[in-house]
Formats: sequence, structure tokens, C-alpha cells
Amino acid sequence: MDYGPAPESDGPAREWIARHGPKLRHFIDGGWQAPKSRKWFESVNPADGKTLCEIADGGQKDVDAAVAAARAAQGAWAKLSGHRRARHLYALARMVQRHSRLLAVLESIDNGKPIRETRDIDVPLVARHFYHHAGWAQLAASEFPGHGPLGVVGQIIPWNFPLLMLAWKVAPALAAGNTVVLKPAEFTSLTALAFAEFAHAAGLPAGVLNVVTGGGETGEAIVRHGDVDKIAFTGSTEIGRRIRALTAGSGKHLTLELGGKSPFIVFDDADLDGAVEGIVDAIWFNQGQVCCAGSRLLVQEGIAERLIARLRARMDTLRVGAPLDKSIDIGAIVAPVQLARIRKLVEIGRAEGAEMYQPEGAAPREGCFYPPTLFTNVHPASTIAREEIFGPVLVTMTFRTPDEAVALANNTAYGLAASVWSENVNLTLDVAPKLKCGVVWINSTNQFDAAAGFGGYRESGYGREGGREGMYEYLAPVWAHKLPPVAAPAIAPATGEASVSAVETIDRTAKLYVGGKQARPDSGYSRRVFAPDGRPVGEVGEGNRKDIRNAVEVARKAGGWSSATAHNRAQVLYYMAENLDARTNEFARRIMAQTGASLARARREVTAATTRLFTYAAWADKYDGAVHSAPVRDVTLAMNEPLGVIGIACPDEAPLLGFLSLAAPAIAMGNRVVAIPSPSAPLAATDFYQVLDTSDLPGGVLNIVTGDRNGLATVLAEHDDVEAVWYFGDAEGSAAVERASTGNLKRTWVNNGRARDWYNPEQAEGHEFLRQATQVKNIWVPYGE
Ligand code: NAI
Repeated sequence: MDYGPAPESDGPAREWIARHGPKLRHFIDGGWQAPKSRKWFESVNPADGKTLCEIADGGQKDVDAAVAAARAAQGAWAKLSGHRRARHLYALARMVQRHSRLLAVLESIDNGKPIRETRDIDVPLVARHFYHHAGWAQLAASEFPGHGPLGVVGQIIPWNFPLLMLAWKVAPALAAGNTVVLKPAEFTSLTALAFAEFAHAAGLPAGVLNVVTGGGETGEAIVRHGDVDKIAFTGSTEIGRRIRALTAGSGKHLTLELGGKSPFIVFDDADLDGAVEGIVDAIWFNQGQVCCAGSRLLVQEGIAERLIARLRARMDTLRVGAPLDKSIDIGAIVAPVQLARIRKLVEIGRAEGAEMYQPEGAAPREGCFYPPTLFTNVHPASTIAREEIFGPVLVTMTFRTPDEAVALANNTAYGLAASVWSENVNLTLDVAPKLKCGVVWINSTNQFDAAAGFGGYRESGYGREGGREGMYEYLAPVWAHKLPPVAAPAIAPATGEASVSAVETIDRTAKLYVGGKQARPDSGYSRRVFAPDGRPVGEVGEGNRKDIRNAVEVARKAGGWSSATAHNRAQVLYYMAENLDARTNEFARRIMAQTGASLARARREVTAATTRLFTYAAWADKYDGAVHSAPVRDVTLAMNEPLGVIGIACPDEAPLLGFLSLAAPAIAMGNRVVAIPSPSAPLAATDFYQVLDTSDLPGGVLNIVTGDRNGLATVLAEHDDVEAVWYFGDAEGSAAVERASTGNLKRTWVNNGRARDWYNPEQAEGHEFLRQATQVKNIWVPYGE
């Protein structure tokens, strides 16, 4: 018996296009606007290759008009009470439900995805996202006190989940009081335009949401625009890198949700039938064009043969074809160019010796289709095991032990998601925290909910979408806009001159602090430290690239700190505070000598630094995660994890307090640190070696390299084994760090040359620091039989 066709009508969707077309304009400032560029491009239905309509190809002037409309609308939108904004978001959720079938069909004919998925997954999740964020708008004042919107946000989204990606971006931005210029992907503009029109009809004020259509150049005009405060991007890692490079030093906020090569791990005690259905969802949902697709199947050796046999049998039953047919499993690939990319990678896989399986005659010959594909005999180093294919292609490898599974899983430049299958809950919960990714699904896959943040790390990007952490990506403390520029230090630090050789001054020169020991700088040079009146007050080592590399290496090895108990970390921080407190006068004199501060002022700095250590000793065992209740039978554990190794370039203002205000939260959360002290007043940090030596902090957890702050910070930003860099120096250094982070897409936190008040707890301690020191991993744990 075979299925008969069960086609969904595309009549209403085509009527909507006809009503607005055949040329679809931008939606700017509450209405349709013809492109000032006068250029158009075709939008094609990938299932039959026929043109659906023409779409405006936005140029600079179109982007200017959209940004101007968003800017004009932003003040009034932000001034609305949380409740008023909540009502708007609620209206958008209701609007999506009212138009749900039209949106589902439009999405299907534009993108090629099965109507079953757009109707049952994409559109309901879109509505859920707006409901959830109506809630955040309502609660914004109480849940995010002292925070406000960023301003105008540019959002650039891909074609794989056009409307869902719009929802993930637009809902939190609007809930937080920002206005938006959104650019959908050139292959899939229709649902974004329909959404904007319907939103306006549902009462959203003009200019709050503007949709400019076009390709990469249009996107880039948004990225480069001087009046945009944040860019939120989802798409390829390559374009993510370009956007990082273009925005470096601009002060624009940035979140990137990029590619993945996510592992799907099956242990030998897993429910194999369940795992097979999981694999189908992991890699053949949306034709495998999913950033978090489980595209690397890792199977424990003993069951590999059985699992693969069952998987092949299941593949034979998958139906590939017309997306509007309700009984179709796999629809069309979005465009011929994507189909060509998939074919090319598959050919490379075969040429590299992997074994391919595709069901006989599985895909229609006409249209943009590709059959479900399985590769076995894949080497972990082969191209298809490393590169994102973004199509219905699964590669398989085997492992013997859980440790080997974790090592294979983490053997990727990406870090977005993972699936773990085993009937042993202890094993799954042991493995999940060891996986380097932002989301782990246990005995399940591709689960999404607005309450659970989604996002990755490493080359999968940074930032989270959804949940409380997603809201923070669209908010900033209200004082942040008003910070003054950093003042130039009273006396310019000597720039690495060979003042006196290290050997001659061995007694007077503070060395570096690496791996819990004092270490001579590799350069053999030192730099002088001056008082404001020009008198030399000491010397410190002139650290270089090699010293940074050594420090990072020992910091990496000190991984035990990340798994130490929070109680243990708290105790060490209290001990550091106690030891600093006992030496208050000595530290105060050092600060006086370098900065010219009065004794009272210098003592105040030391006391504030001691208090700050107490603060983070207090936080060490209290910055808990959360348990989300997603609308499926799951508990979702949102765990705050340390990032790993953080490079910290410390400010000149308050040289001891600034240094500890940054190092302490990083350490408290389980990170290891390579710190570059203030170049103008580094001696307070180098004196701190003695406090560290007497405080039970394991060697390698806090390393200190003195020298040229901007040069050393850039080395840290380029280093592949450093997970994040915090920079609190001048504007040039901030830009240099952001630029240097482009290669490995490192997470950065820079001050853009603005000075915080390190004495003011509102600016200098607490949640912002703890958030920067952690990333949220959401672990989905199903329950029930
Ligand atoms: P892409 O990264 O070029 O496109 C994503 C969005 O960025 C689109 O809206 C596009 O117009 C825009 N864009 C392109 N160049 C831009 C620029 N210079 N400045 C600003 N915006 C720009 O992705 P593409 O070419 O469509 O797909 C290529 C590969 O990227 C896929 O094979 C897949 O591996 C990956 N990809 C990953 C996605 C994800 O969700 N992680 C989504 C789409 C693609």
C-alpha cells in the first residue's frame, strides 16, 4: 500500500502574492515602499523552479530610509510602558495564529519545506515566541531593572527557517524597546513581508518593524550603517566572520548564530527504534538545512551494524517530493545553488573513500530535490566529517568508550548542539556537560522553545536567542550610554624600551606570574613604571607573545578549577580577600606611588578591592542556572558553565580594584585567567603574586603578564585556546581586540574606550560580570514513558 497525494491548496497564498505583486516592495515605516534602487530580483518556488514574484532589491537609500524610520519610531516605542509593549507582542502572537495557514503555505512554496513542518512546527513556534516575549515586555521593568533598549537593531536572517528566525530576532528586540530593520534571505522574503504587513494591521506603530529585502549587499549596507546600534545575524560562519570584521571598533553590539556540525551520540544501551526516529528528525527535518542538525552520527561500536541496518530500512520509507503534499517527509532544497553545494560535498565524500547509501529512486528528478543520504566508513578528518553540508546528508563514525565519544563529539570547530542517546540517565548527564556546545538534547533532538535559550560557541557564534539570556542581548544598563571616555594616564608608560636588562635588575623587577610561579619575561626586557611626577617607581617584565602562549598553556592545563566545587572556589576567594586585607597599607602605598593618590584614597581602593573579592566569594556558589518547563514533557536544565580560559586586559583607572573586579568574577565562575595589568600602574597587580601564593589558588588559574596592553590583548584575541577576551583600555585597543577575534570568532567584551566607575557596584560588579564569565548550556531531559 502506498500513500496517495494529499495536497494543501496554495490558492490563498498565491492570492496574497497577486494582491501585492507581481512586484513585492519593501515594508518601511508602516507601508509598502518601492525600491529607490529600482532593482528587483526573482523569487522562485524551488519545488517546481517557477517564478513566484519579483522582490525589491534594496540599495543603500532603501536601507537609509528603513534605518531612519526605525530611529524615528524608537523613542516613542521605548517610552511605552512594558504593559503597552506586551499588548503589542500579544497582538502579534494572535495575528500569527489568525494567519497561520496562509503563513505556513507561503513559507512552504517559497522555501520548499514540507507543509507538515511549516504548519505543525515553524508557525506554532513563531506564535509561541511572541507570546513568551509579550511576557518579557510585561515584566521588563521588574526583571531587568536599570536596563534599557540598545536602540535601532539590524537583523539579518537566513532562508532555512525564514519566519521562525524572524520571530527569534524580532520578538526579543521589540519586547526590550528596540526598533528593527530586518533583512530576510534573498531566497525567502515572502513570510517576512507578510508578517510586517499583518503586524501593522494588528496595530504595531509605523517604523517599529521595517523589512528591507535584497541579497548580501543589502545586508552589508545594514551592517555598515552608522545609525544602527546592534547587528543580530544568523547564517554562514563565513559571513559571520565578515560581519565581525566590519563592526570591529564601531561600538555596535553583535550576536552571531552560525553553523554547526552537531554530534548525535548513540550508546549501546539506547532504545534503537527511538534513536532511529531521532536520527530522522535530526538530519532529515527541513532537508537537513538546519544549523543544529545532528549531522555526525557517533555510534558505540557494538551496536553500529544493527543501528545502521535499521536506519537504512527506515530511509527506504522516507518520501521526498512536493512540499505541499501533506504526506511528504522531505521537501525541496531551497535553491539550485544549495543543491550544487550538497552535490559537491557528497562527491568529495565519495572521492575520500566513504561509503554512501541512498534509497533507490527516492527523490523526484524534476525540481530541487536531494535524497536522504548516509555515509559510513567516514574518517574523522575527512571533509564531510568536518564541513557543514547543510543538506540531508548524515556521516557516521564509531566509538568504544564514553570518553572517546566526547572526544569525537568535540572534535569540531563548531559548538552548537548535540544529542545523546542512552537509557542510562547517569551516563547522559555525565556526558552532557562535557560536550562543547550550547544545547544538549537527551534522548531527543531538535527541540526548541522560546523559554530555553538557543545558541552556541566557538565557530557557531555567540549570544543566545530565547529565554532570559536572549533578552539581555537586546538590553544594556541605562548608565552605559553615559560613560565618559577613559582619561589618558597621568604619565605615558614607557613603551618597551630596553631600560635596564632583566638580569641587572633581578631584585627590583617584578617578573610575570605564570602557573603559580614567578617567571622571567621571554624578551629579557623590562619596562619602567613612573609616578605622575615622572620619577621611576619600579620595573615590570616586558611580556611578549611567547609569554602569553606559555600563560595560556598553563591556564588550559588548570582545567581542574572549572570542575572544583563552588564552595571550594568561594573559600579560595575569601582567603584572597583576607590576605589582601592584612596588607592594606602596603598595597595602598604602592597605589599612591604609581598614581599620586592620597593615602586615604589609596586605602579606599584596597578596601574596595577586598570587598569585591568578598562579593565574588559570595557569588561563587549562588549564580545558579534554571530549570525551564518547556511545553513538551521535558525539564530543560539551563546550566551556567565557565567559558574556559579568559584573557583580561585591565583598566588604568583604579589599577588594583579594576584588576580584581574583572579577575574575581571570572575565577569565581570557574574560568582560568590570563590578565594583563594596567600598563601605567601594574605594580599593584604584581604585588598581588604574594597574596596568590598564600591563598591556595591552584597554579595556572590566574596568570599575570605585564607589558604592552594592546599588543598582548591582541595576541590573546587571536589565540585559539582562549575562549573569551575582556578588554578595558582605550578605544583603539577595543577595536584591535574585536578585529583580532574575527579569525576564531571569539567572544569579546570591550569598553570601547569608556571608563566605568570601579567603585560603583552598579557599574563594577554583579550580574553583568557573572553573565560575561559564563555561558548557558540548555540540557533537555525528557521524562515519562
Ligand atoms: P549566508 O550566510 O550568505 O546568508 C545568510 C544571510 O546573510 C542572508 O540574508 C544573506 O543575504 C545575508 N548576507 C550575505 N552576505 C552578507 C554580507 N556580506 N553582509 C550582510 N549580510 C549578508 O548563507 P548562504 O550563502 O545562503 O548559505 C551558505 C551556507 O551557509 C549554507 O550552505 C550553510 O552551510 C550555511 N548557512 C547556515 C545557516 C544557519 O542557520 N547557521 C543558515 C543559512 C546558511
